[in-house]
Amino acid sequence: MRAARDVSTSILPLALKDVGYAVGGKPLLSGLTLRIEAGRRLIVMGANGAGKSLFLRLCHGLIDPTAGRRIWASGEARAEAQAMVFQRPVLLRRSVAANLDYPLALKGMASAARHEAVARTLDRFGLTPLADRPARLLSGGEQQRLALARAWAMRPQVLFLDEPCSALDPSATRIIEEMVAQFSEEGITIVMSTHNLGQARRLGQDVAFLHRGRLIEHRSAPAFFAGPETPEARAFLAGDLIW
Ligand SMILES: Nc1ncnc2c1ncn2[C@@H]1O[C@H](COP(=O)(O)OP(=O)(O)OP(=O)(O)O)[C@@H](O)[C@H]1O
Ligand SMILES: [Mg+2]
Repeated sequence: MRAARDVSTSILPLALKDVGYAVGGKPLLSGLTLRIEAGRRLIVMGANGAGKSLFLRLCHGLIDPTAGRRIWASGEARAEAQAMVFQRPVLLRRSVAANLDYPLALKGMASAARHEAVARTLDRFGLTPLADRPARLLSGGEQQRLALARAWAMRPQVLFLDEPCSALDPSATRIIEEMVAQFSEEGITIVMSTHNLGQARRLGQDVAFLHRGRLIEHRSAPAFFAGPETPEARAFLAGDLIW
């Protein structure tokens, strides 16, 4: 455990400097240079296989660069300041409430404080009626709502979301988008991949566009949608197949 004085330090911006990631000599990400700024909503776009999931995993620290440098403003990654939500939620084989309680316990929160935090989280996200249900038996939309609520309860500075809505219907998608917008208003930095152009327009402030493991555009979302600079991004927005 780090000293308590570190806890309020901002871990952002996160800077990637000429970052690459290769497996068995095959480059999967190359020459990535960008800064992820505090308080922004960055949408990560690109065709299937472009490297979006690897990019998010690398930023979050699930995988490490094999070239270049990943530099947190705080000097090092801090697990309690970051959270990640995947396309398919990773939930414990326990009740909804226990799924919220467990990571808070791991974080070292005392039992009374945890009880209050779980109740507050359940209430805020409309999960109270589901509190005692086995999490894995919830609908896909409910599971994702729980996964986001659990991430929120950890009070992260930055939340990485890898296509959190791709398996959800439009109304469940709306709920997740609303949650992401609320988190952002509270100051949580959002880095999210999506294939849904409408969603990217609704939520994006900045866009990072990946193509074959390279970052070929990184601009404000309005500028990106008004006129992509690269033929690959233009083709992607037009719905043309690219890889
Ligand atoms: N461990 C690995 N070993 C070899 N290749 C890998 C590995 N992980 C990912 N890849 C390859 O790297 C490329 C990028 O994968 P990634 O999952 O990041 O794409 P993506 O943009 O998230 O695609 P999708 O839109 O389908 O989710 C793909 O071609 C994938 O097959
Ligand atoms: Mg992916």
